Amino acid sequence: MDSKRTVSIIGTGSYVPEKVLTNKDLESVVETSDEWIYSRTGMRERHIAAEDQAASDLGSEAAIKALVDARIGAEEIDLIIVATLSPDMFFPSTACFVQEKIGAKNAFCYDLGAACSGFLYAMDVAKSQIACGAVETALVIGSEKMSTFIDWEDRGTCILFGDGAGAAVLQAGGEGRGIMESSMGSDGSLAHLLATPGGGSRNPISHEMIDQKQHFLKMEGRDVFKHAVVRMSEAVLDVMEKNGISADDVSCFIPHQANIRIIDAISKRLGVADRMFSNVDKYANTSSAALAIALDEAARGGTIKKGDLVVLTVFGGGFTWGANVIEWGK
Ligand code: COA
Repeated sequence: MDSKRTVSIIGTGSYVPEKVLTNKDLESVVETSDEWIYSRTGMRERHIAAEDQAASDLGSEAAIKALVDARIGAEEIDLIIVATLSPDMFFPSTACFVQEKIGAKNAFCYDLGAACSGFLYAMDVAKSQIACGAVETALVIGSEKMSTFIDWEDRGTCILFGDGAGAAVLQAGGEGRGIMESSMGSDGSLAHLLATPGGGSRNPISHEMIDQKQHFLKMEGRDVFKHAVVRMSEAVLDVMEKNGISADDVSCFIPHQANIRIIDAISKRLGVADRMFSNVDKYANTSSAALAIALDEAARGGTIKKGDLVVLTVFGGGFTWGANVIEWGK
């Protein structure tokens, strides 16, 4: 097997549900204001999935668009990885539901759990699988129905999240260097700062657990903020060094879309505000889908073009973080 095969992104797609929830709408849900939300987060609105839409439905919509963009059929996919913290069910995997919906009958499928960092982690795993020759073509999806796992009475968290999905098709070959080296890290000692504590084997489903709202996402916002800025900035510096490039070589930086103030703080540290991509105003934080949606929008909108070097970076619960560099080949 050739361990040095180039791996390229040959198609991207994204999908957000129809229903839009604005900051103004949230004023009638919790004690908050459009001004507070916008000034603290840069968010103006987010999309909320319909009751009958699960993560696999959102992910499949994004996947179909990515396949059209890649000009390949679903049966050509060898591997599907879905990054999600809001799966359809504990098991089977959301990836298996996506497989069935899009007709990718030749793929093997699994989910990956790295919270908001999931899409970049999944891309990294799929890239390795392709680079080592195990598979030719992989579909990587970040898909979230965050609205199910949010406490709509907690103003500290409910304003921050939205639903959506993004996808990318990765394939062996292509022009340029494709997906280059990545820099990844995790710190499990800080897991408690951002978690959904109830419903798993640690704190199983019970009336008491639900009464205590332990099945909803909990977050220490200020701590998360600080770590997100430091870890994403460090990961970007590290990944540029690993790949022998400088910030001047990079056409576009696409960070996890959690908060415009986090993004601005990273821009300032790295001195790259003019090339920092953001769409957090439209979608809020869609967790593992955020980077995937941003990448698709940047590609379709012409922000990134063939031959450009693009740096992606993520941060999420765990904590988990990472960055990679892509020489865009489409
Ligand atoms: N509307 C109005 N007031 C709110 C509010 C809301 N939606 N949410 C919190 N507040 C209040 C708080 O109760 C607090 O009031 P107090 O001072 O009387 O106690 C005040 O606003 C300030 O809260 P604080 O937590 O200091 O605000 P902040 O400037 O840190 O902003 C976040 C809060 C959540 C926006 C910010 O910490 C953040 O973005 N953190 C990172 C979150 C994140 O990105 N998570 C996902 C990572 S993958």
